Amino acid sequence: MQIGSLTLSGYAALAPMAGVADRAFRELCMRFGAGYCVSEMVSSKGIAYNSRKSADLMQVSSAEHPCAVQIFGTEPDTMADAARFALRYKPDAIDINMGCPAPKISGSGSGAALMKDPALCGRIVNAVSKAVDLPVTVKIRSGFDSDHINAVEIAKIAEDNGVAAITVHGRTRDQFYAPPVNYDIIRDVKRAVQIPVIGNGDVIDAQSAKRLYEYTGVDYIMVGRGALGNPWIFSEINAYLGEDKLIERPSLDEKLRVLSRHIADLVAYKGEAVGMREARKHTAYYLKGFKNAAKLRSLAFSMETLDDLQDLLSAIRG
Ligand SMILES: Cc1cc2nc3c(=O)[nH]c(=O)nc-3n(C[C@H](O)[C@H](O)[C@H](O)COP(=O)(O)O)c2cc1C
Repeated sequence: MQIGSLTLSGYAALAPMAGVADRAFRELCMRFGAGYCVSEMVSSKGIAYNSRKSADLMQVSSAEHPCAVQIFGTEPDTMADAARFALRYKPDAIDINMGCPAPKISGSGSGAALMKDPALCGRIVNAVSKAVDLPVTVKIRSGFDSDHINAVEIAKIAEDNGVAAITVHGRTRDQFYAPPVNYDIIRDVKRAVQIPVIGNGDVIDAQSAKRLYEYTGVDYIMVGRGALGNPWIFSEINAYLGEDKLIERPSLDEKLRVLSRHIADLVAYKGEAVGMREARKHTAYYLKGFKNAAKLRSLAFSMETLDDLQDLLSAIRG
């Protein structure tokens, strides 16, 4: 898989997920075989106003390449400036968010709301592509709502204005994350453009990854929620699609080892106070399907220190 000059290994990327797919989680997924990852979305206005928080979200470590920085906004010039600003963090690509459904984002015309204005999409893509000497990509939905399924139109406009690849999440903005995922529209985008297309939506295991590839003919896929508490999904997808092998699910010990490392990294990067607060939701994802999961989850949500995590792991081991 090639995005401009960039070569991606394996079969699946980690999706951008604000508040979840931070450096610790991206590095973890890359170790497990994700071939590409994308930063949490960064406000181009935040960058224009010198927000430290926005700039911090752009940081890409040496352990997570190839990695794109994703930006959102509505103004072509501000988006181009944010893309130029991102270059100091040495990302491998710049991704433009045209899919976020959150009212805070799409209510101001950014994210998925951009799909209602194809001409503006074209101007933004054009400005960002001209601003940086890196592959520029866009991430879109099937459309804004069921009456406006225009992913093919937006994809063609993006291609004409210089993007190197397009990710399609096969849901409308109005669907948020509700089923079903529209595989037909992902396939239609793939057929309509020459550049690589990355399919996204509801991949939860190796088999669903294969179905998405086979049905749509996409060049690559992207996994979001299916990776939460489950970074093994990338090695499973690589083994299944690369060697037709179904690998065993991780043992309890392996799960706890990986959880422990994940949270230790989170704390190392964000400090114990912030890191442990964010560790609660991640830990809850890992606990899915465990015996006494409800009780363990409530323990997880009261963690404040790394010692509390060790206590939780001891309670799980029994
Ligand atoms: C918590 C959360 C945060 C997300 N944040 C972003 C984001 O910052 N940028 C973006 O383009 N998509 C974002 N998404 C959408 C995902 O990238 C992905 O398109 C969506 O979850 C569908 O894929 P999945 O079914 O594999 O989860 C987010 C999704 C979730 C669940």
